Amino acid sequence: MKQTLLAIGCILYTGHAAAISAGEYMAKVSDCAACHTAEGGKPMAGGKAFATPLGNIYATNITPDKTSGIGQYSYEDFEKAVRQGIAKDGHPLYPAMPYPSYARMSDKDIHDLYDYFMKEVPAADVKNKENDIPWLLSARWPLHIWNWLYVEDAHPDNRALKTTAQDKELLARGAYLVEGPGHCGACHTPRGVSMQEKAYDGNSDIYLSGATIDGWYAPSLRNISMSSEELKDLLQMGRSQHGAISGPMSEVVTQSTQYLTDGDLDAISFYLLSFNHKNSTPVAKDGSISYSPTDGKTLYSMYCSTCHGDDGKGKDFTVPSLVNNSIVMAKDPASLISVIYQGAQTPQTKGNISFRMPAYKDSMSADEITNVVNYVRGNWGDGAPPMSKDDVTKYKKAQE
Ligand code: HEC
Ligand code: HEC
Ligand code: HEC
Repeated sequence: MKQTLLAIGCILYTGHAAAISAGEYMAKVSDCAACHTAEGGKPMAGGKAFATPLGNIYATNITPDKTSGIGQYSYEDFEKAVRQGIAKDGHPLYPAMPYPSYARMSDKDIHDLYDYFMKEVPAADVKNKENDIPWLLSARWPLHIWNWLYVEDAHPDNRALKTTAQDKELLARGAYLVEGPGHCGACHTPRGVSMQEKAYDGNSDIYLSGATIDGWYAPSLRNISMSSEELKDLLQMGRSQHGAISGPMSEVVTQSTQYLTDGDLDAISFYLLSFNHKNSTPVAKDGSISYSPTDGKTLYSMYCSTCHGDDGKGKDFTVPSLVNNSIVMAKDPASLISVIYQGAQTPQTKGNISFRMPAYKDSMSADEITNVVNYVRGNWGDGAPPMSKDDVTKYKKAQE
């Protein structure tokens, strides 16, 4: 059974890899569809809403349609939009569009992208939604200031990479993919007062140090305690021997990282794991119970242990381990609470069955969720303090 599935996976994989152009590959790596394709909508015809304190703004139609899309964009116009955040008519784009990261992309990759959008993406005459923020359209000047402050004209080649000659290429490619097209910092780097990511590359300690987005916590990628094989599996299949992906990261895997070549996944893993300066071999904490308020433990046995095990270690390749798990160890409990509240599902990727965790929003009270969260964090968290019911209610509200 397993072998058949693997075989099917391989066929799908090679079939796909052969069919795709350099520009389409770059569009996957950059995950343009994440924002520019609405759920159930035509590819790249726009739609995803971004809530800002001032109202919603919408990702636009970027199909080559001449009236509704970017069919009138020359290569220069396109380059300016994607790398500098300036639309054809000169207005600055709202930074939900991750151009500060795309600014790092090479000319070749931008050319390939342009060819793909102009020649391969089907034109769709879907009108752009009006932004709900009136002043954005009439007076976008504050964004010019934003651009001036934060968009660096950085190129991957002129950054100092601290490394041995042998690994330099892998590290440079990994840095390029993560900091550039992959725009991983858009979720994993904390943002400052004016929405800018606090750092855009690995030279800063803040870069990829973890951030809250939409009721989830995107954990720090600077001290990942897994092997590069496991990390690659997570990005390619949405699950690994001990881990699984959930929440907004599932979309990233489904729409982007599952399509990356082995070489590019190697490079990303190499780069991310290079942050683990501490020379630490990940030591699995043993699952011994040190903090066990009775109801937390009882609730855990009732609701969780059938799948995750009494020792929290889960089942290889099926149920993720809660031991050494960044969601559980994060100081910010947003993702842990969201997973329990909404349930989770491993992303659907090629040749990979999706496993599901049930949602507990209707079966557990805020008290019970509080106790089980404290039990899980008390055992396998990284010294994270207990939560009060009020804290948990606050996070529950954010999910509604
Ligand atoms: C995280 C979300 C996000 C991603 C990823 C993203 N965009 Fe955007 N993009 C937006 C938003 C939002 C706007 C509209 C901004 C505004 O109106 O100020 C936009 C605007 C644009 C525009 C200007 C279009 C116009 O109507 O003038 C272009 C061109 C564009 N994006 C291309 C791309 C390409 C190419 C990619 C992938 C390489 C991409 N975007 C990835 C969110 C995103
Ligand atoms: C749209 C927001 C978003 C983007 C973009 C994003 N991530 Fe994530 N990521 C998350 C969230 C939220 C989580 C926590 C959920 C989970 O662990 O499944 C996460 C978790 C992860 C994990 C699991 C961490 C662990 O220790 O278990 C890895 C690895 C990861 N992301 C890598 C990346 C890489 C590499 C990129 C860029 C290619 C990226 N992410 C881009 C939101 C995002
Ligand atoms: C029916 C089996 C099942 C039960 C019961 C279950 N889980 Fe899960 N759980 C899973 C699966 C499968 C995943 C992987 C889904 C994903 O995140 O992609 C998961 C994911 C998680 C994650 C996210 C791990 C990660 O790295 O993304 C956490 C945390 C978690 N479960 C905690 C719990 C807690 C606490 C309970 C009890 C309240 C519970 N689970 C009950 C099967 C289960």
